[in-house]
Amino acid sequence: MLNLSSSLGAQLLGALERAFPEASKAARISGAPLNAQLVSASKPEYGDFQINGALSLAKHLKQPPREIALAIIAQLENDEDFLGICEPPEIAGPGFINLTIRTECLTQEIQARLQDERLGVPLVRSNGNEQTLAPVIVDFSSPNIAKEMHVGHLRSTIIGDSIARVLEFRGHPVLRLNHVGDWGTQFGMLIKYLKQAAPEALTKENVVDLGDLVNFYRQAKRRFDQDEVFQADSREEVVKLQSGNQLSLNAWELLCSQSRKEFQKIYDLLDIRLSERGESFYNQFLPDIIEELESSGLLVVDNGAKCVFLNDINGKDGKPLPVIVQKSDGGFNYATTDLAAIRYRFNTPPSGDGAHRLIYVTDAGQANHFRGVFQIAQRANWIPKGGRMEHVPFGLVQGEDGKKLKTRSGETVRLSELLHEAIRRSKADLQRRLNEEGRQESKEFIEKVSKAIGLAAVKYADLSQNRITNYQFSFDRMLALQGNTAPYLLYALVRIAGIARKGGDLNNFDNELKFSEHKEWDLVREILKFDEVIVEVEEELLPNRLCNYLFELSQVFNRFYDHLPILKASEPYKSSRLVLCRLTANTLKLGMSLLGIPTLDRM
Ligand code: ARG
Repeated sequence: MLNLSSSLGAQLLGALERAFPEASKAARISGAPLNAQLVSASKPEYGDFQINGALSLAKHLKQPPREIALAIIAQLENDEDFLGICEPPEIAGPGFINLTIRTECLTQEIQARLQDERLGVPLVRSNGNEQTLAPVIVDFSSPNIAKEMHVGHLRSTIIGDSIARVLEFRGHPVLRLNHVGDWGTQFGMLIKYLKQAAPEALTKENVVDLGDLVNFYRQAKRRFDQDEVFQADSREEVVKLQSGNQLSLNAWELLCSQSRKEFQKIYDLLDIRLSERGESFYNQFLPDIIEELESSGLLVVDNGAKCVFLNDINGKDGKPLPVIVQKSDGGFNYATTDLAAIRYRFNTPPSGDGAHRLIYVTDAGQANHFRGVFQIAQRANWIPKGGRMEHVPFGLVQGEDGKKLKTRSGETVRLSELLHEAIRRSKADLQRRLNEEGRQESKEFIEKVSKAIGLAAVKYADLSQNRITNYQFSFDRMLALQGNTAPYLLYALVRIAGIARKGGDLNNFDNELKFSEHKEWDLVREILKFDEVIVEVEEELLPNRLCNYLFELSQVFNRFYDHLPILKASEPYKSSRLVLCRLTANTLKLGMSLLGIPTLDRM
């Protein structure tokens, strides 16, 4: 009900100005206009919207909140437009005002939504000025070459993709960037090791897969920690690579492409689009970054290393924390690359992306890293006016025992294993259900449905958590048909598709709409909340809000479906109820697609 809330907002502002002309004017001039705080109602018994501002205005206006509320109401009731939208306002408690939208108005909104593919969600480029829309960058997934992609990367991939989808749907040009860890001293070590252990891997394709590389990496690391000669040789390899030695570069390229193949399998399975722009891309800019930090007076040499000391962020010793940007041996690190990335992403083309919002999706353990580099970028003046940088942190993935997720034999879980396991289990569930119901289905149906449900369950389980908290990975819970799960939501859609199969015409919405039951109005109101939820996710980057909404919508729909006849109802109720079915289905489908989850007609 975004358009209603913006009309109400304007009417409320007018009412406030008429009720308190002097104070309104003074407040406007001082740059802090009076705010009546219009919000969606926090409980259904408060109506549709609440005006909370009388309490905070009381001090400013030196009047009791109830009197302020009465004065606002008196003005609102003088406003024809307001009366066209709302029932007479009600005062609650010490001075809250509850607003209930008139049923005619809700019906009109439903009517409007039937004609609108976007289901009420406005496009950001509504001013018609496409040229001025700067891209948003979503930096997500970002695994490391020659290392296994782990469950943390899976979370980043799923959450980042959903955020990107919401932003794209709102009309933002989105750059989905895979900031893979494809550079650094570990490559020297790995190349040195492979030269002895598996030299063909450095010159020929497909000699090793990612699993082999991960093992080689482990062995190389062990050797590196024990053997000084090997250490020195590895450093030499790094120098060769960084100075552009062709053989080293070829070997490095090969290692990257072997890893990439493996990552791509996961992206294909999950239907993730990403553009790879790894750390190595920013190499060329690193010396400049140091120079710029130097000339803006931020650089301090400490124990031979070049650092920037952070403001207001202290280490354990209570002293300002340094961020090292160039090590004493001249090498650059993760922070330097991220600084170069920030500068590049904000710079206008052709020397950058010209973005206005940077979003980083990583585990919460990197919060300090991002706080540090964001602050440095700010102090170096690399952020354009209105530019935003946001770290989107998420918690750890734990097993059902609350500990770090491991396989039974105690190894880290391989992502492709995990996804295939979800599909296997959803297939077993499906077959059990088919047996119980005595249903016969084709092999293709079983394959398609179990794959869709298995992957949907993994994605949804992750997205429906408040991402900040750690989350317990449980196949049983995520695949359950009851509760806040993907199968529950998918099933609501299957029910609606079933109505259509039984002869309900979901595409006929020419008849006049008429609702009379509570359960219909509940569903009407729930359907109409969709647009607000999307705009909220765009702002707060919390996909779990969308999940909770879709869960709520499915529950409200199921109560409607269980209590009211649809196909057996008489007209105009029948076609009005079919309209609600259609809109519920469209809202669920669109909402799920913004989570990256395809839906089914039968399951
Ligand atoms: N490669 C890093 C990791 O595996 C994540 C990179 C996130 N993006 C960034 N711009 N730092 O933890």
